[in-house]
Amino acid sequence: MKDNFYITTPIYYPSAKPHMGHAYSSIVADFFARLKKIQGHKVFFLTGTDEHGQKIQRAAEKSNKDPLEFCDEISKTFRNLSSLLNLSNDDFIRTTEKRHASAVTNLWNILEKKKEIYLSKYSGWYSVSDEAFYNEDEIEDLEGKKISKSSGSPVEWVEEESYFFRLSKWQEPLLKFYSENPKFILPDSRKNEVISFVKSGLKDLSVSRKSFSWGIKVPSNKDHVIYVWLDALTNYLSALNYPKETEKLYKDFWPANIHIIGKDILRFHAVYWPAFLLAAGIKPPQRVYGHGWILSGDEKMSKSKGNILDPIEIIDIYGLDALRYYLLKEVSFGNDGNISKEKLESCINSDLANNYGNLCQRVILFCEKNLGLKVPEYNFMKEDLKILNDFKENIENIEKQINDQNINYYVEYVVNQLFKANKYFNDQAPWTKKDDSQRLNTIVFVSLELIRKISILLYPIIPNTSLKVLNIFSIKEKDIKFDTISDNEYLKDKKEIIKLGILFEKIKR
Ligand code: MSP
Repeated sequence: MKDNFYITTPIYYPSAKPHMGHAYSSIVADFFARLKKIQGHKVFFLTGTDEHGQKIQRAAEKSNKDPLEFCDEISKTFRNLSSLLNLSNDDFIRTTEKRHASAVTNLWNILEKKKEIYLSKYSGWYSVSDEAFYNEDEIEDLEGKKISKSSGSPVEWVEEESYFFRLSKWQEPLLKFYSENPKFILPDSRKNEVISFVKSGLKDLSVSRKSFSWGIKVPSNKDHVIYVWLDALTNYLSALNYPKETEKLYKDFWPANIHIIGKDILRFHAVYWPAFLLAAGIKPPQRVYGHGWILSGDEKMSKSKGNILDPIEIIDIYGLDALRYYLLKEVSFGNDGNISKEKLESCINSDLANNYGNLCQRVILFCEKNLGLKVPEYNFMKEDLKILNDFKENIENIEKQINDQNINYYVEYVVNQLFKANKYFNDQAPWTKKDDSQRLNTIVFVSLELIRKISILLYPIIPNTSLKVLNIFSIKEKDIKFDTISDNEYLKDKKEIIKLGILFEKIKR
């Protein structure tokens, strides 16, 4: 049995409706979860909502709602987005759940007992929108207002009694941890950013707030609520039933293999989170991948900028698989990516309709007309084996690349295989072989095999369409095995294929 694989998305703030940035983190995580599943790993894939803190309390007040009632409503929209995105998540955690509170208080108690937490006073800048404390050198003036240099969010002065986590003590252990685990933070550019931040000196971190109440109370002092990031990060443990460490889930899946996050929340995941865990004597996750921003017209998509491409609307117009394909292919993973409806449309037309759709359509139609949808006999020649064996020869490398989250390499390989398969069908021109039935049969068999192999590779990217195609070979979701792409004769026992409708309509401009 292969290693278990635990992957997470960030848990989203239900302070506003879900947008494309959220959809992106989730689609990426789903891609890896599905791929690992078909590679034969036992997978646990987690997503959810981050519901405590001042940001949510204020958003609830603004809509005249009790915070929990407010979260109940918006959390539902994120849950709905998960199903709309066809996420294969195994759980959806809400930080307002009881199971989560007990994990957070347990972690707090350990840290307090180990004297990693002490009571003092915080005075400094705080951004409610980022739920982050900022040093003087991290803020700037904008038209008389103080904002965070990194996020542009307004900051306010806070002075209150607060518990502190001895983050400074963990500076050296963290640097040691990064050097012993060189792939803990990816991509490398982000790793360097984090290391230089840690090297520049870590100050103790305020981990409780006193001036509002919406959160999990500090167990030993109910005047304080636990800092929302300490609360939120613990979701990755609470979903595994931590602190019941004897429970199977925790034993099977901790430490997480990878947290997929946006680059804006890297510091929380790559500095604070491993420090909390090391201090508590819990193993840190194996990897944190900070992806870039989805931009619209070169700006980060955000509510305040009014440049949001609504994922729900896009799915409604173009379909889910088109969106998934587009984001995974066109955004260079790890970097910012500019998206637009125009580019999405040309991606649908050229890659999905012309390349994949056409291949399936032509081959299956030819098989229907000439062979009555029967899977034919075959006798491979050199040119057949050349194209078929390409998959076997590359499978190891693809797996290696994907273990480093090289999504673009993976998608590029699939696109190339699609081109090659179309070219093979054109060059071999089975319609000219009507008086050589063995050759005609073999070309059809090889083309069907190519469609099967490519559809398996496409499953993590466009699961709905891939399943539709695999269904013609009577391959069900649970039967999809990545290894079978190396098998050139998988279809030999299948008698017949099923007819296939149009996969992607071309967009007319
Ligand atoms: N609640 C925290 C995460 C806690 S995880 C323990 C949070 N939530 S968020 O809703 O604001 O953002 C969640 C994720 O969406 C972040 O990783 C963020 O980077 C991502 N995105 C939000 N806007 C984005 C873009 N425009 N582009 C890509 N992703 C961005 O932060």
